[in-house]
Amino acid sequence: MFVTQKKLLMDFQNQRPRLILPILVVSVVVLLIIYTTQDMSTLFYRNCETKERSTAYNVGILLNKFFVEDVLLSSSRPPPGRTIFFHETTCYHQVSQFNVMNLTARQACAIESAGLNNPNFQVFVLFSCPTYRPLSGGQKLLIDAIEIYKNVRFRHLNIRNYASDTPVEDWIKKGDLLNSSFPMQHTADLLRLISLYRFGGIYLDMDVVVLRSLENEPLNYVGAHDNITLGNAVIGLEPTGKGHEIAELFLRDYEKNYNGKEYVQNGPALVTRVVKKLCGDNIVKLIEEGRTSCQGLKVFNSTAFYPFGWPQWMHFTEPKYLKETMTITKDSYLIHLWNKASYRGLIRVGSNTALGIYAKRHCPRVYAAAGDYF
Ligand SMILES: *[C@@H]1O[C@H](CO)[C@@H](O)[C@H](O)[C@H]1NC(C)=O
Ligand SMILES: *[C@@H]1O[C@H](CO)[C@@H](O)[C@H](O)[C@H]1NC(C)=O
Ligand SMILES: *[C@@H]1O[C@H](CO)[C@@H](O)[C@H](O)[C@H]1NC(C)=O
Ligand SMILES: *[C@@H]1O[C@H](CO)[C@@H](O)[C@H](O)[C@H]1NC(C)=O
Repeated sequence: MFVTQKKLLMDFQNQRPRLILPILVVSVVVLLIIYTTQDMSTLFYRNCETKERSTAYNVGILLNKFFVEDVLLSSSRPPPGRTIFFHETTCYHQVSQFNVMNLTARQACAIESAGLNNPNFQVFVLFSCPTYRPLSGGQKLLIDAIEIYKNVRFRHLNIRNYASDTPVEDWIKKGDLLNSSFPMQHTADLLRLISLYRFGGIYLDMDVVVLRSLENEPLNYVGAHDNITLGNAVIGLEPTGKGHEIAELFLRDYEKNYNGKEYVQNGPALVTRVVKKLCGDNIVKLIEEGRTSCQGLKVFNSTAFYPFGWPQWMHFTEPKYLKETMTITKDSYLIHLWNKASYRGLIRVGSNTALGIYAKRHCPRVYAAAGDYF
């Protein structure tokens, strides 16, 4: 190929402009090859039965390792109702020059703990901007620690494509989301609803540690923060039937009541609003009566996902709370760390804190790769 290109170039220099077209064609083909390598490498995997490794094969593998595939174009799609979703939207917040992954150790822990405790589910981590894997350094250690799990997949999504064929397809094109005072948060608020509308399954925030399997808990649930409000850090919905209907209600409410200036308006407040409209205002009653009182939707009490409210996030990070926290969380499915408040409260790796103990148990590889602080 290179010989041909060189010849073309030489011919071109010899003032033969009719060769512009072939040069263009070659360039486009090369660009297309680079652009579609995500699919190329799987193609090569399948066709390469002789085990002969061509250069293209190796380049395909290399690029595939570096680029993160688009979730809708990938050959392995989220299995409906058997996927745990995480959404990474920080590219709307800080300037990350090369769009290289930049997960914190705690985010990586959330992903590992989900993969480890739910081996029969797929865990899809969806980045809202074109993203590349790190080539070296601490970030690579974290990513490698997660990618050991065969059920964890990193994917990229294009928001407009992801919203197409959903109730918010037209709304997203208007651009209101880009106008948000909290673009990172409000994008994540919306994308989780689109994921559940498209595929069903479970959405989790990235500031959690999963402590138990969620695989055997029938879908269609949310969790209460307290007796008054529900959270949106954990939502489980069936891909069809009532679950899909509720996902649609969530999306329609998002568009109808979107407010770019209010932090919680499109998140926890949205979930609370929609569930109350569907099943009545009495959250305590919904919790007590289980699936019978809300059209099959279960509202977990705060112990399940939010054993401590955000003002008490130190219960996870300070040794003096260890005993109390372990008792209160012993039946929790997961702990939610309230990152917006807790991110500054790093713990020393190995410290005698609830977070340290749970991280060692439920995200052992990430915890080991985190360095001195977690
Ligand atoms: C990664 O994120 C941290 C803040 O969490 C920031 O300081 C750092 O510059 C980021 N690195 C890259 C390569 O974007
Ligand atoms: C964004 O906000 C500004 C100021 O509030 C407003 O003038 C503009 O129309 C908004 N743009 C969109 C696309 O909503
Ligand atoms: C929530 O409701 C339950 C049941 O009525 C009650 O026992 C509990 O004290 C309430 N919690 C708060 C914080 O009000
Ligand atoms: C939540 O329910 C579980 C099991 O029914 C119970 O043990 C726990 O005390 C409840 N938590 C709260 C905050 O009411």
